[in-house]
Amino acid sequence: MKHLLFLCLGICLLATSCKSTADLSVSKTMNTAESQLKYSLKNHTDKSTYPRSVNADGSLHAVSSKDWTSGFYPGSMWYMYSYTQDQKWADSAAAWNAGLESAKFHTHTHDLGFVLYCSFGNGLKLTENPKYAQILLQGSQTLIKRFDPKVGSIRSWDFGSWEYPVIIDNMMNLEMLFWATKYSGDTKFYDVAVKHAETTLKNHFRPDNSSVHVVDYDKTSGNVKAKKTHQGYSDESAWARGQAWGLYGFTVVYRETGDKKYLEQAEKIADFFLNHPNLPEDMVPYWDFNAPDIPNTPRDASAAAIAASGLLELGRYSAKGSTYFDAAEKILTSLSSPAYLAKPGTNQGFILKHSTGHMPNKSEIDVPINYADYYFLEALLRYNMLNPEK
Ligand code: GLY
Repeated sequence: MKHLLFLCLGICLLATSCKSTADLSVSKTMNTAESQLKYSLKNHTDKSTYPRSVNADGSLHAVSSKDWTSGFYPGSMWYMYSYTQDQKWADSAAAWNAGLESAKFHTHTHDLGFVLYCSFGNGLKLTENPKYAQILLQGSQTLIKRFDPKVGSIRSWDFGSWEYPVIIDNMMNLEMLFWATKYSGDTKFYDVAVKHAETTLKNHFRPDNSSVHVVDYDKTSGNVKAKKTHQGYSDESAWARGQAWGLYGFTVVYRETGDKKYLEQAEKIADFFLNHPNLPEDMVPYWDFNAPDIPNTPRDASAAAIAASGLLELGRYSAKGSTYFDAAEKILTSLSSPAYLAKPGTNQGFILKHSTGHMPNKSEIDVPINYADYYFLEALLRYNMLNPEK
């Protein structure tokens, strides 16, 4: 229980001010989620691969520790432990964490925050295992090798014809760096994280506060070369998950720096997302806010789950707190309904249906995906702290 309180401490501060009228039962949804995680563990025993999504033929798509999504599977188990306090979830999570340790040396990716902080980071908060801290610190050392001071950003990808691509998603890898400075006392991690956030704030946003997916930089001058999309509908469109990554990421940067410009940016993104005319009534966005075939195009439940979790934290800091809480509650109510929540024993053990991974690549369209489940569980825990069930 002590660890549960620690994990959600900040969230509790506003607990008395959030009142719900929604028909959302966290315990009911968590029970379903627990059945699904158990079902997944029963059917997938190979600890060298991590369930990521479902293939077009309905089979499980599992990936190695090198994949950017590998940390979400143990991360979901840590959240289940946090909720149930059942030791067997901590044991399972630790067992699935183990295969990810080598990622602390992976220099090929900017996604070490996703891989390591969702797995070992949650494990550290819940168990205080000192080995996890060493892994996170090494992972942070590895991650900052991808930072170029001329550009002022951590490089995202090594593939493709980009010169120095930086994607909005990369905001999510900064939380581990903030942790690394607090843990080690070495400010270099904090400095990289803040510079990256500052550069992203400067270059990724349009006048309507939507974000482009990829900014490609000239390595020599540090100037912007091009603004493009990779997973969105077009270079000018608002890819739904990208907006959710930005909302969540800038909220974290505000929490860690106290600098109001990051709070304001997170609010602007939230307002863009929530007030968009193409956001459906159930508040689960289409995969891109500007997809041309709306409403006959897939949703992205992962974007909804990430946004809900981000909104619940943003609501703690913002004068518009109750608007953000209500919006998150509405999203979670939709995701907990049969339209999105899988029946136990189906959906290859994933909790949510209807996420879209990479539409232009025609991959992972309208399927379950592990990061939707991870952020859904996180959001439910945050919601439960703000609005505990009687
Ligand atoms: N970070 C990759 C994605 O959101 O699909």
